[in-house]
Amino acid sequence: MNETALTVRQTARPHGLAIAEHFAFVESPLPAPAAGSALVENLYWSVDPYHREMMDDVPGGFALDAPLEGRTLGRVTASRTPDLTEGDIVFHRQGWRTHAVVAPEVVRKLPLFEKVPLTAYLSVLGGTGLTAYVGLTRIARLQEGEDLFVSAAAGGVGTATGRFARLLGAGRLVGSTGSAAKSAHLTGVVGYDAAFDYHDGPAAELLGKAAPDGVDVFVDNVGGEQLAAAVGALREFGRIVRVGTIGQYNTPHAPAPRFDYADIVEKSLRMEGFLVSNYRDLQEELYAFAVPHLQSGRLVPDETVVDGFEHIVDAFLGMLRGENTGKIIVRDRTQIAA
Ligand SMILES: NC(=O)c1ccc[n+]([C@@H]2O[C@H](COP(=O)([O-])OP(=O)(O)OC[C@H]3O[C@@H](n4cnc5c(N)ncnc54)[C@H](OP(=O)(O)O)[C@@H]3O)[C@@H](O)[C@H]2O)c1
Repeated sequence: MNETALTVRQTARPHGLAIAEHFAFVESPLPAPAAGSALVENLYWSVDPYHREMMDDVPGGFALDAPLEGRTLGRVTASRTPDLTEGDIVFHRQGWRTHAVVAPEVVRKLPLFEKVPLTAYLSVLGGTGLTAYVGLTRIARLQEGEDLFVSAAAGGVGTATGRFARLLGAGRLVGSTGSAAKSAHLTGVVGYDAAFDYHDGPAAELLGKAAPDGVDVFVDNVGGEQLAAAVGALREFGRIVRVGTIGQYNTPHAPAPRFDYADIVEKSLRMEGFLVSNYRDLQEELYAFAVPHLQSGRLVPDETVVDGFEHIVDAFLGMLRGENTGKIIVRDRTQIAA
């Protein structure tokens, strides 16, 4: 085990694009657990679009020069609480650092289902999968045979949405993403019926070609022009599931999308946003739904794994630029052959 710990801090606020110079790696002696806590060596880290929102000077945002936080999986290496045992694999939120001292009430011991890789607890079984599951089952209230359009479809939430929608009996699946290679992944691997690169023209035209008969549900990870296009393409009683607005995280003052508000009335559309943090009680339901499919091979997690904690900032910035396919996860080098 390392004798020192590394922690990532944000050192400056971005104006527009976030860059590596907004972060610093800080080395410190290995923390020691106080009575009632345990030391965890982190093994897998999630980097997420919401981190970019929290880098701005917003309520609840990251404090400068303080350790960052994020979803992570680790192994207990020393314990001074009867509730955690050396060797336990746990989920907690003190990510962006190699080691964390945790109290038992802020960690969740992983159930470690057979034939399920650890990374899945950050992808399809983690917050990413839960977001997709809530979006489809609680917000869209997806019915069998219904057709979907998903933006940022090749990312973590987008691939989980496509795969879950298939398993839930969806009809035609259309996805948008940022490259031809990612479009090919959507149709060739994930199970989308059609996909387009949103750089290739006006979103309304591209969506019109990919979904000429319209869609029932739009799962929106992006906002902007694609949201406006989807309002036009939705059928009567269509639902817009507002998951995220990644199209404007690096350009917070981008103009709001323009669409025909009359469509909302005339087609009886419903637009609803949500935060997955308000649906934690569905975690067991997600396991019950997804784990048998993972074990049977019907559900395969889409993941981009970046090796080495020292690359966590690059992984985060690369994800914002669209370099990931599926959920992006940073892996400690000890786990490469694990
Ligand atoms: N509501 C919630 O509780 C909740 C929870 C989790 C995530 N989210 C949201 O869900 C969305 C997806 O999150 P994720 O974790 O799954 O990330 P992700 O989709 O795996 O990664 C982000 C992707 O966004 C795309 N992107 C970046 N800039 C873009 C732009 N200007 N226009 C269009 N696409 C752009 C990139 O793919 P391309 O190559 O396709 O451009 C990139 O790969 C985000 O908006 C996030 O904030 C919400």
